[in-house]
Amino acid sequence: MTGEQDRFAKGVLLEARGIKKSYKRGDNPFCAADNISLSINPGEFIGITGRSGSGKSTLMNILAGLMTPDEGEVFFEGKSYKKMTDRELSALRCNGLGYIMQGLSVLPNFTVYENILIPEWLDRRRKSSPKDILKAMKKVGIAHLKRQYPSRLSGGELRRVSIARALLSSPKLLIADEPTSDLDEETAENIVNILSDIAREGVAVLMVTHDREAAAKCGREYQMKNGVLT
Ligand SMILES: Nc1ncnc2c1ncn2[C@@H]1O[C@H](COP(=O)(O)OP(=O)(O)OP(=O)(O)O)[C@@H](O)[C@H]1O
Ligand SMILES: [Mg+2]
Repeated sequence: MTGEQDRFAKGVLLEARGIKKSYKRGDNPFCAADNISLSINPGEFIGITGRSGSGKSTLMNILAGLMTPDEGEVFFEGKSYKKMTDRELSALRCNGLGYIMQGLSVLPNFTVYENILIPEWLDRRRKSSPKDILKAMKKVGIAHLKRQYPSRLSGGELRRVSIARALLSSPKLLIADEPTSDLDEETAENIVNILSDIAREGVAVLMVTHDREAAAKCGREYQMKNGVLT
């Protein structure tokens, strides 16, 4: 084990230390993530709330390794993203870390089944069996929609397609950015329950939400305010 890994508390899955990220609007730089530190253990269900524009998605993109912070470091199982190549980072997103980005991420001309398989078409290292795919669809209750096209699905069903797709990579951490936005109360609750069950089965879940009720179901809750996480 390297010295860097030694500094890790045993079992910590993801750790972010002193993350800073500024953007420029016109000539004025502003801080979208301001000295954020966070650690996530296996099986934890963590919620992040905060006003629009407070920097939540910026932080999620950094934690998922899609965006490089100006300062600070993110470690997954003790390994710093700074020390990973692009290839290693994308392999991480294929294996250890599932990321459900904000907004809808299904392609309209593909069926539910095909949409779930898209990451595997893009990455030859992955090859799930039809049994794995069915298992992921059953877990979120969309097996019966396998051959449907997205235009025939409800908002809640579309979210479940995104969750099934993320689950297919058997992640240890699932990051979901606003998985309940634009859903009615009951459907939102259903999505949160699915995520909570996933966490109970040992996958850490980090959920961004505007929904206070959803956040109340999390084991740990943070608030983001002008780039600061409290
Ligand atoms: N690439 C970019 N360049 C410049 N400014 C950006 C960029 N991306 C985001 N911002 C700005 O940074 C701030 C934080 O954006 P971010 O998307 O992280 O907020 P958020 O908390 O996820 O908001 P929402 O709840 O609306 O999704 C916003 O003011 C946004 O306009
Ligand atoms: Mg956002």
